[in-house]
Amino acid sequence: TDTSLYDLPCVTAKIVALGDAGVGKSSLIRRFMNETFEDRYNATIGCDMNVKTIEVAGKLVQLHLWETAGQERFRSVVTNYVRNADGILLVYDVTCQNSIRSIDRWIAFAKDYGPPDSIKVLIGNKFDQKERCIISKRKGKELADRLEMPFFETSAKSSLNVEVVFRTLAAEILLSP
Ligand code: GTP
Repeated sequence: TDTSLYDLPCVTAKIVALGDAGVGKSSLIRRFMNETFEDRYNATIGCDMNVKTIEVAGKLVQLHLWETAGQERFRSVVTNYVRNADGILLVYDVTCQNSIRSIDRWIAFAKDYGPPDSIKVLIGNKFDQKERCIISKRKGKELADRLEMPFFETSAKSSLNVEVVFRTLAAEILLSP
């Protein structure tokens, strides 16, 4: 007999996106939430939360997706939101050298203010901008290997790998103790 979706166990998972201003944290979440993309830059003020429920391995996972402001002036606000994150997306922009240099600082930030056992994923976003791409896949992969986390190149614009990133994170969160 069919199991109704309503009969499935439901867990919640808090996911926070960190990374420099403009790397596409909000855009990745917006793409995943409602399959849309906007070219206009609208800086996140503090933090915004979105909810989406997906089915993973026979469970319903209610994802609480937090867009955080990359801008320095909001840094102290953001500390409050990583506190009990189950998963953290560390995002850089493949067309911006500074944004990948910042990843170590964001890792330190997550370490200082987040839980030690949160699941982390490294993301090189804006992969659709092939002609402007200055950070190779090898560079990204090397960093991810050093940090011991999965790595994906994504595009919020073309939707490349967006779904798989959130599903991978949700699946890993379910598996973690
Ligand atoms: P803050 O909220 O200030 O921290 O920025 P953010 O990291 O949330 O970046 P946001 O999603 O607002 O995107 C910044 C700009 O990059 C916007 O103009 C987006 O349209 C653009 N952008 C985001 N993702 C992509 C992408 O995958 N490809 C391209 N070409 N542009 C993107």
